[in-house]
Amino acid sequence: MPADPLVTMGEGDTPLVPAPRLSELTGADVWLKLEGANPTGSFKDRGMTVAVSAAIAEGAEAIVCASTGNTAASAAAYAARAGLRGAVIVPEGKIATGKLAQALMHGARVIALRGNFDEALALVRELARRHPIALVNSVNDFRIEGQKTGAFEVCDEFGEAPDVLCIPVGNAGNVTSWWKGFQEYGEAPRLHGYQAEGAAPLVQGAPVESPETVASAIRIGNPARWEDAMNAFTSSRGEVRAVSDAEILDAYSLLGAREGVFCEPASAASVAGLLKYGAEGRVVCVLTGHGLKDPQTAMNRAGSVVPCEPDIGSVEEAVLG
Ligand code: F0G
Repeated sequence: MPADPLVTMGEGDTPLVPAPRLSELTGADVWLKLEGANPTGSFKDRGMTVAVSAAIAEGAEAIVCASTGNTAASAAAYAARAGLRGAVIVPEGKIATGKLAQALMHGARVIALRGNFDEALALVRELARRHPIALVNSVNDFRIEGQKTGAFEVCDEFGEAPDVLCIPVGNAGNVTSWWKGFQEYGEAPRLHGYQAEGAAPLVQGAPVESPETVASAIRIGNPARWEDAMNAFTSSRGEVRAVSDAEILDAYSLLGAREGVFCEPASAASVAGLLKYGAEGRVVCVLTGHGLKDPQTAMNRAGSVVPCEPDIGSVEEAVLG
């Protein structure tokens, strides 16, 4: 019997690094899980390798997803590698430049929907019902199976779970995955999920019709994994809370300037939540995507460059002045 098809690019095994400045600020023992080190720069690859391999096994010729950007980049890359057609539907004008460049470079058909993520997801679900196309959003259980490996890695590295896991929440697939991983490992850390204030349906207990946040990756008003996520927060004696865009951007800048870690704004929500609400013991913040995904937000936020004439006096002044 031939082996199961495997479409892989070396996902996972991402760095888990201590965060001395954050530890100092919070009094907790804070660690960062750098998911931006995955092949396409986000945690989505952990699940996409499984979902696309399964799609091949099932004989699919094409894959499709709705996305705020990272799922699109990942799906496009794995489709390219697998020789499948890929189509991604993204909210028009609302995804970060790097993610759009990735999806286009990998040859996916990129469809800019005049609507938001929630509308896009409803439409691709209908599309996948009507046509033999594999849907690779996290409503696909194979995605969850792949993404749970983040929890295995953290437990392997510490020899046990941390006390608290801080994680940004959008469509709620990832927190569902981590909780499944911890449970299968026989562990139960507290899960602290954070949503952006303008896109916080789980915190408010009701869908948000027009979600808005600078953290475009988690600009989602009606998470598909709503119940799974709430179950994870309840069962782990954790919590789901909101952080403002200003708090997200402060954490984003702090990570870059004081920890040397460049993540995207949505990822910084995990640290913003930790700083705002606190946590005790050993804490892992999941930094879900790389900062290079969203150069525009970085440039809007960061300091300006120093112009300089090409002579030593000017250079001395520029460097030391
Ligand atoms: N962080 C980043 C960088 C993301 O791209 C996402 C989700 C999340 C956190 C939240 O994860 O949805 O499993 O709760 N991005 C999806 C996408 C929605 O289309 O790329 P979640």
